Amino acid sequence: MDARHIEILKSLGVDINEKNAKNSQHWIERTKSHALATQNREVYGFIDHTRGEGIRMYDIDGNEYLDLASGVAVRAMGLRYKPFIEFESSIVDVVHEIMSNNWDSIPQTAFAEKLISITPGTHEKQASMTTSGARAVENCMKSAMDRSGHQRFIGFRPSFHGRTGYALALTASNKKHKAGFPQGVDVTRVFYPYCYRCPYGQNAEDCNVECAEALRGAIEVEGDDIAATVMESVCCEGGFLIPPKKAVKAIYDITKEYGGHFIADEVQAGMGRTGKWWAIEHFDVVPDYIAMGKAIGVGYPLGASVGPSPMFSAYSRHSETFGAEPKMALQCLWLLKHLEDENILSKNAEKGAYMTKRLTELKDKHEVIGDVRGLGLMTGIEFVKDKKSKERDQKTRNDIVKNAVHKYKLWVLAAGHNVIRWLPSYIITKEDIDECLDRFEKAIIDSSK
Ligand SMILES: Cc1ncc(COP(=O)(O)O)c(C=O)c1O
Repeated sequence: MDARHIEILKSLGVDINEKNAKNSQHWIERTKSHALATQNREVYGFIDHTRGEGIRMYDIDGNEYLDLASGVAVRAMGLRYKPFIEFESSIVDVVHEIMSNNWDSIPQTAFAEKLISITPGTHEKQASMTTSGARAVENCMKSAMDRSGHQRFIGFRPSFHGRTGYALALTASNKKHKAGFPQGVDVTRVFYPYCYRCPYGQNAEDCNVECAEALRGAIEVEGDDIAATVMESVCCEGGFLIPPKKAVKAIYDITKEYGGHFIADEVQAGMGRTGKWWAIEHFDVVPDYIAMGKAIGVGYPLGASVGPSPMFSAYSRHSETFGAEPKMALQCLWLLKHLEDENILSKNAEKGAYMTKRLTELKDKHEVIGDVRGLGLMTGIEFVKDKKSKERDQKTRNDIVKNAVHKYKLWVLAAGHNVIRWLPSYIITKEDIDECLDRFEKAIIDSSK
């Protein structure tokens, strides 16, 4: 951080000086003792908010990292993407102090029209904006309840849909998210299709989708009054599980058989990351709803829900003060157009296939890698004690994350119990992937000695 930025912080009344501005440890202690309530400071240092380009990011101590987490899929175009900065600068003077609940503006309407045009299905749709992914999911859930008159949802284990209200009721990926908080809505839960560890002991190639049939059984014993099935098209926080097409199709069909809606949670996997606008499009299913978030906001807090028209029986059944005010709507429109103009979706598919191929080569070399699974620019690497027993190895996974970050300056993120996710920004190149792979392999070798 340079002197100008330190001065900016000083002028805002922040207690900062030349020395502590360059010391992550100082700020870690400071947040721990009396400031931020919820942060995890076990692995990562303080990010320098004044530096960074593409997949290169810095901590305030001056270390440069290659970023494979993209802010958990928030930074579609990497850090400080110049074409976006230019666009953002060009609209800095728009009136963005518009409370979007009661008053409309052209950008918000144009944004809704655009979202409707890039979501699957030719049925009449509507869009409704939120300020986070969890609320995008909840917005879909509220609409499904409103339309069906039912209040029961089908959810999966593992799954992650957010940490508030109804979304938290669906979430099931770690007890720390849920324990002690009440269940906000009825959820009938079944296992997420997880072929590497099929809970029904089957092989994906010749199974009879027992995971989907289990859903029918659950509905029969727990209640068939379902408002919707809510499924992550790729199970993200729970361990980067990529379901087989036939399972998603069967889960969809069973949901429909019982008259339920199907909500695809695309908060992490959507927005072109997998090579299609929405990951659910890989499974030949047309969902009733898509919940969106993260990348869609180009770095700002935005979510959106697209669902069947009319989404609600009356005006104001769901709404948020800051749901896509004009500046954010313009920025999102810019991103969607840019992704199209630059043909970025098909590039994501191609680079993603390369990334998964290279990681699969690593799997063949290292006994601790049990499984590698990828869809576009999202690849999960599952760590085990050995390939034969498939026993989960969380310690090795944790050591690899620490070594990758601390020693090899690779900003990686865990998922689930024993998985590391590669979730880079769309601007990553094949050369970057190779460099990340070198560093990652060194961290694996160090951690599995
Ligand atoms: C699949 C999925 N759904 C929902 C959410 C919640 O999004 P937010 O944190 O913006 O509320 C997340 C966040 O990680 C997610 O990955």
